[in-house]
Amino acid sequence: MNWITKTLTSALGQKLIMSITGFFLISFLMVHLTGNLMLFKNDGGAMFNAYAHFMSTAGIIRLAEIILVLGFVLHIYIAWRLTQQNRQARPQDYVYSRPDANSSWFSRNMGIAGGIVLIFLVIHLYNFWFQYKFQADIPFAPGTDYKDMYWLVHTVFIQEWWFSILYIVAMIFLGFHLAHGFESAFHTLGLHHKKYTPLIKMIGLLFAIIVPAGFAAMPISIYIKLLL
Ligand code: HEM
Repeated sequence: MNWITKTLTSALGQKLIMSITGFFLISFLMVHLTGNLMLFKNDGGAMFNAYAHFMSTAGIIRLAEIILVLGFVLHIYIAWRLTQQNRQARPQDYVYSRPDANSSWFSRNMGIAGGIVLIFLVIHLYNFWFQYKFQADIPFAPGTDYKDMYWLVHTVFIQEWWFSILYIVAMIFLGFHLAHGFESAFHTLGLHHKKYTPLIKMIGLLFAIIVPAGFAAMPISIYIKLLL
């Protein structure tokens, strides 16, 4: 067991955990975005509601949720520890190291972008996960005996319009976070190569644009539908 403790507390071990949990959270984002694309289906929300009902009742999803929470907690905790350790190792705080010449703006601001995404996540879980589970006044989806998540999403984005703005702004920061995180996760795992690194960078950049844009398109499309 000693080697496990040593790996988890060494700088390299912690970076490995950041990278593995980062990949895991990236796959969560892809699954979540794909599921939420059902919001765009022109069926009055029937498919999206059936999906949301499945997500809140299926046993396998409860297990996935526990792993997801662990992934988030580890990713955030190790990020915080690494930041503390870096500060202690460099008390002069960049006086001589010219960070702007040695690293990108994205990489230096991972903590800020990640922190904003974390605040977004707390608000987001309250908006949808908590309200769906514990709020009594959500109507049933038409012709079913389960709650109408499609209605809830529309109500949150339309009645409390500032949430729409907040979601869109948070997606910009999610994009910044992913822009560096994606490439960095590959790099830490030693997956860098003269030929493939530019391709990984390109895929990372596309991912960092497409995924947040897909999420941001949800409140935007609800407002466009209102105007039409
Ligand atoms: C406009 C964008 C988004 C919409 C409309 C949306 C919608 C939803 C809905 C309806 C749920 C509850 C049902 C379900 O589990 O699918 C949910 C849960 C969740 N969302 Fe989002 N989401 C958005 C963006 C995001 C983003 C960007 C993240 C992460 C950074 C995120 C993280 C989560 C998490 C962790 C849960 C709880 C999952 C679970 O318990 O199964 N969401 N979201």
